[in-house]
Amino acid sequence: QQLDLITLAGSTRKASVNKKLARLARDRARHAGASVEFLDLADYPLPLYDGDLEDREGIPAAAQELKARLRQCDGFLIASPEYNSSLSPVLKNALDWISRRKDADEPPLAAYRGKVAALVAASPGGLGGLRGLVPLRMMLGNIGVHVIPDQFALAGAFDAFNDADELADPKQAEQLSTVVEAWVATAARLKQHG
Ligand code: FNR
Repeated sequence: QQLDLITLAGSTRKASVNKKLARLARDRARHAGASVEFLDLADYPLPLYDGDLEDREGIPAAAQELKARLRQCDGFLIASPEYNSSLSPVLKNALDWISRRKDADEPPLAAYRGKVAALVAASPGGLGGLRGLVPLRMMLGNIGVHVIPDQFALAGAFDAFNDADELADPKQAEQLSTVVEAWVATAARLKQHG
C-alpha cells in the first residue's frame, strides 16, 4: 500500500523560504514513490488558542480539518522557521489546536501517535534555523511522534533558491534528498512492520 505523507511549513508568508523547502521535500518524496501533499497553513487560519474560546465554540473547523488529515497520514515533514531559537507561534498554535480532542471518545493525540516525522529548517542566517529544531523535536517526541534523527537546516536561505525554486547548490539539494529519503524509508518500514 502506498505511503500517504504530508509536508508543511511553520510560516504562512507568501514568499516563505520554509514553504519553498516543504514543497521541494514534497517533490523529492513523490520521487521516492510516496503519495505526498503539501499543506499550506495559510489555508487553515486559526485563532490563538484560548480555553474559553474552545469551551464556547469548540475546536475551529480549520483545526478539525488539519487533524483529520494528519490522523489519516503515515507521517509528516515540517519545514520550521526559527524564531528566537524556537518554533514559530503559527506552527505551535496549529500543533496545539490539533492536539485537542472533541470528547473522550476520540483517542488522545490521534493525529500524532505513531506518525513518522522529519524536520528541516530554512533561515537567512548562518545556522539555517537549526536551533529551532531542538525544541520542536522535543515537543513532537513528547506527544508520540517518531521524529527521525536526520535533519537539514538551509543557511543563507534568501539566496539559496534559483528561479525554478530549486536549491541552486547541488550539495544542499543532496542533503535535503538524504533527509527525505530516510523519512520515506522509515515511514515505509513502520507501516509494513508496525
Ligand atoms: C526571526 N528570524 C530568525 N532567524 C534565525 O535564523 N534565528 C532566529 O532566532 C530568528 N529569530 C526571529 C524572530 C522573529 C520574531 C522573526 C519574525 C524572525 C528570521 C527568520 O529566519 C526569517 O524571518 C525567515 O524568513 C522566516 O522564515 P520564512 O517565513 O521565510 O519561512
